[in-house]
Amino acid sequence: MFADTAALARECAQQGRGLAAFNVVLLDHAEAFIDAAERCGLPLVLQLSQNAVKYHGGRLAPLGKALLELARASSARVAVHLDHAEDPGLCRAAIDLGFSSIMYDGSALPDADNRASTKRIAEAAHAAGISVEAELGEVGGKNGVHDPSARTDPDEAAAFVADTGVDMLAVAVGSSHAMATRDAVLDDARIAAIHRAVAVPLVLHGSSGVPDDGMRSAIRAGMTKINVSTHLNAVFTSDVRRMLDEDPRAVDPRKYMGPGNRAVSAEAERLMRLYTTVHD
Ligand code: G3H
Ligand code: ZN
Repeated sequence: MFADTAALARECAQQGRGLAAFNVVLLDHAEAFIDAAERCGLPLVLQLSQNAVKYHGGRLAPLGKALLELARASSARVAVHLDHAEDPGLCRAAIDLGFSSIMYDGSALPDADNRASTKRIAEAAHAAGISVEAELGEVGGKNGVHDPSARTDPDEAAAFVADTGVDMLAVAVGSSHAMATRDAVLDDARIAAIHRAVAVPLVLHGSSGVPDDGMRSAIRAGMTKINVSTHLNAVFTSDVRRMLDEDPRAVDPRKYMGPGNRAVSAEAERLMRLYTTVHD
């Protein structure tokens, strides 16, 4: 069933669990993630990024509507989220389509501009009953350059949330986007300090580079929404590559996409279970 991202995140934060937020490039991925959520009976956020929309020719509606339809039809609680949108027009389009939430990413802007535009977009989204995530302290790796050194200041984070009214906050705590290795070291002390200072659920970007143990302790320290893209794409692609290597004459996409989808669904399920059993 269709769910609100911030409500799911608040519930998970109260329970000290992580909330899986997986990025979708193809409809197949959304189906694989939803299958995983239904198998383990856990909530899920399907994320469509501005870059994914660009890949689909700048068209948000076709895939966006399909995700909304899949969410409504699912027995699991599924939210649909616009991820890393720097374009206010795209935020507006997602609000009009009825997404659960949007992430307005003004983290590369000067602080005052990030605050002002985030506040404006949060007002528009809230008027439509849609929740908002913003980012403070730019998480590295978006431009291909890994930089895990950025840190969000807890007091600045608290003031940013109060000024803008956002429902979830993405913070810089040692991760970096699009890592192909799982050896990032998160700053758990900083996560705990931001968690103490800020009332809204915290969001981890660039989660692909974080090993399982690091993820467990980050969630224990107060991290809630866990955004994963690269790692799941790697699982999918390596299985598709294996199938094509095994049968170089294969032409029917179902022959190689099917096993790739099953592999990514199994890994999505494993991650979802990991995020909810951090205290065991
Ligand atoms: O917003 C999406 C995430 O931050 C994904 O990052 O590709 O490093 O897992 P990742
Ligand atoms: Zn991100």
